[in-house]
Amino acid sequence: MEKFHCSNCDRSYSIDRQRWRCDCGSFLDLEFKPKFPIKKILKRDPTLWRYREAIPILQDEHILSMGEGFTPLEEMEFNGHRVLLKIDYLFPTGSYKDRGATVLVSKLRELGIRKVVEDSSGNAGSAIAAYCARAGIECEIYVPQSTSSGKLVQIQAYGATFKKVEGSREKTAEVAKEAASKIYYASHCWNPFFLHGTKTFAFEIWEQMGWKAPDALVLPVGHGTLLLGAYIGFKELNEAGKVERIPRLVGIQSTACAPLYQAFKKGWRETLPIEKKETMAEGIAIANPVRGSQILEAIRETNGEILTVTEKEIGVALKQMSRKGHFIEPTSAATIAGLKKYLKNIKKEVVVSTLTGMGLKSVEKMLK
Ligand SMILES: Cc1ncc(COP(=O)(O)O)c(C=O)c1O
Ligand SMILES: [Zn+2]
Repeated sequence: MEKFHCSNCDRSYSIDRQRWRCDCGSFLDLEFKPKFPIKKILKRDPTLWRYREAIPILQDEHILSMGEGFTPLEEMEFNGHRVLLKIDYLFPTGSYKDRGATVLVSKLRELGIRKVVEDSSGNAGSAIAAYCARAGIECEIYVPQSTSSGKLVQIQAYGATFKKVEGSREKTAEVAKEAASKIYYASHCWNPFFLHGTKTFAFEIWEQMGWKAPDALVLPVGHGTLLLGAYIGFKELNEAGKVERIPRLVGIQSTACAPLYQAFKKGWRETLPIEKKETMAEGIAIANPVRGSQILEAIRETNGEILTVTEKEIGVALKQMSRKGHFIEPTSAATIAGLKKYLKNIKKEVVVSTLTGMGLKSVEKMLK
């Protein structure tokens, strides 16, 4: 039976309907033993649920799926380097956050939860709102005032109660946490079931590369739900003897908001809250990531690094990707700008990166 575990104070808890953090205040992880029966996996539909035995939902009847996942892994050339790009804006709500939402909302059904609250810069809110709508679960989403209008419209269209919070993304989280004292907190940052959805990113890459791991993953990082998901996924595959190592994790931040970069460079175990400036890359503009210490540890363990990109570099990457037929949001263009920097300093490596969000959600930011 799976359990919540706190790596800060080593306490364990059974999964219950209220708990979203440890009594010591730290975030929780999930203790869970996955299995990878390749013959069965190969017979299933091309969705992320093909890794059924590695996803912590007890009974099939609780699974809420919209046929999501198993996104294309496309080869592309950047300055003479061949790179594989996971096209993760091809999800029902237009971002990779559906990986987390399908698993978290399936768990809500399993726990019999009827109402949730979540805060987000937009995409996680859209994903949770969509899957809750499908499940008939009431949903309150808090977003910062600056969120792109495409995402705001999307959240409301799914029928979520919607609260715009004046001030920063951090202020939004504070207001949502207050609401979470009474309502289940379906937080993509705190709730480990979300990460046990985003980890399917790793499983798909493993299968699409012929049951192998790449040398490096270049990923956007704000709260780190994709980076930590990829880490958990490859760690589970490694522990199950399916891959030899966990790929090097390379996180990309905007220079306008780079608390993880600062902590990484200074050798700190935790991030310190920073003063952030405006950035087009709203999805990674997180001044105080909940799982900062865990992200830093994963990057150091895999011999990875964090790179930053400027607004100008994001703009160039956005145009470049559009000309290759990929209309992505600026947050995803930041990843590509970081990927190009990373490639400058390597010779022969198998590198996988990703396009995480659909451009149609943030056209007004692009017009600016
Ligand atoms: C399109 C997109 N890419 C990447 C991210 C970064 O995700 P995380 O904050 O979990 O690191 C986000 C987060 O909102 C996003 O919307
Ligand atoms: Zn604890």
